[in-house]
Amino acid sequence: MTKPSIVDVPTATDGPANAIDVTDSRTGQTHKLPITDGAIRAADLKKIKTADEDDPGLLSYDPAFLNTASCRSSITFIDGDKGILRYRGYPIEQLAESSSFLEVAWLLRKGELPNQQEYDQFVHDITYHTYVHENMRKFLEGFRYDAHPMAMLNSSVAALASFYPRSRNIFDERERDISIIRLLAKVPTIAAFCYRHLKGLPFVYPDNGLSYVDNFLSMVARMTEPRYEANPIFSRALEVLFILHADHEQNCSTSAVRAVGSSHVDPFSAMSAGIAALFGPLHGGANEQVLRMIEEIGHVKNVPQFIEGVKGGKGKLMGFGHRVYKSYDPRATIVKELADEVFKVVGVDRDLEIALELERIALSDDYFKSRKLYPNVDFYTGLIYRSMAFPTEFFTVLFAIARTAGWLSQWEEMLLDKEQKIARPRQVYTGYDERAYRRQIKL
Ligand code: ACO
Repeated sequence: MTKPSIVDVPTATDGPANAIDVTDSRTGQTHKLPITDGAIRAADLKKIKTADEDDPGLLSYDPAFLNTASCRSSITFIDGDKGILRYRGYPIEQLAESSSFLEVAWLLRKGELPNQQEYDQFVHDITYHTYVHENMRKFLEGFRYDAHPMAMLNSSVAALASFYPRSRNIFDERERDISIIRLLAKVPTIAAFCYRHLKGLPFVYPDNGLSYVDNFLSMVARMTEPRYEANPIFSRALEVLFILHADHEQNCSTSAVRAVGSSHVDPFSAMSAGIAALFGPLHGGANEQVLRMIEEIGHVKNVPQFIEGVKGGKGKLMGFGHRVYKSYDPRATIVKELADEVFKVVGVDRDLEIALELERIALSDDYFKSRKLYPNVDFYTGLIYRSMAFPTEFFTVLFAIARTAGWLSQWEEMLLDKEQKIARPRQVYTGYDERAYRRQIKL
């Protein structure tokens, strides 16, 4: 047997000790793959080849990105085993306790907390961009009476690109600034218009004398009163929920925004991709599905049978499980406490008993324990939203309003990252080899 040779795969690293030797049993060669920040570069694998000159080199195959970092990011940190979530280093618990959604939106994008002058200017800018063009109103009126509000929100945000053609100048910092301000300011307005359309109520225009959250609640709920006064508990609950949902590193919708944005399209189009991804029941749509599941269970006595069904492969326990959190979702802990606050005001939600029983049984059942399935942020949010009288199909829209802050921060970080290029995954082709065309039909 010939002595294996060492083939260097050169890449900038932290130092020579930070490398892994991979021996290719096909060739006997050992390849040194540099490790930086705990990761090897998948592109380095390409240089691992057999003697066959047609061999394109080794690929890493990772459907659904189970173990592949798609970027370097300094925005959000998650330790899924320890149940830690931090925005720019600040623990989510502290931000939920003491911050405001707009302060968090600034922090996510800029990396530091704003000073008073910066914050006041930011709030002012957001407040004075809340109005949407009247054509947008006509656009929304064109939807059917029972259109899902996420479908409306998604297409409306995409449509905003047509109102702001200069937003396509994505490498002009001023254009990025104004686009981000417009999106943060107008998404609640569009969301509230979607709600009013759903309810068949006249649209309520923004009230610039109100805070971000109170203005949103006013656009949702105001009827004939000259100024809407939100219940302060609801207002604070929504502010906290917005903070909790503001970012969550490279989740499905954020990855969608980054991937679409990597083509250098405008931010409105990129964000609409994020809204589309969030709509799905395995992602942001789960809060809606939790309520539907609870309604289907109908009574606490049916919970054990439902759990057995899930274990037997009949659907999933919605609001449970997470790709990253394998101990607990720190947001779920905060949401549960928040739910208690809200229920003190509106009375206990009729389905809370079912939710608590689902949680109790699941947390003590081996099926869920062995798979590390714990309640995620969506398990209790639906109950809070419903007790605030939001319709079920509107829950994910509330999530989208908050996630706007994260999507845009991640979009900008991607654009300014010199290492990023257009997102273009590879594939392992499993189809036919070349074959000759023979028509089977009459044209
Ligand atoms: N109920 C029952 N079983 C589950 C659940 C669940 N909620 N989630 C995962 N499992 C099971 C899977 O069937 C699988 O079992 P197996 O090993 O016997 O095949 C095992 O647990 C591992 O699950 P995966 O699907 O591999 O986990 P993945 O990381 O791909 O999925 C996800 C994560 C999508 C969140 C999943 O747990 C799920 O579908 N949960 C319900 C939907 C939900 O609540 N989504 C919201 C997530 S939070 C958010 O996006 C805001």
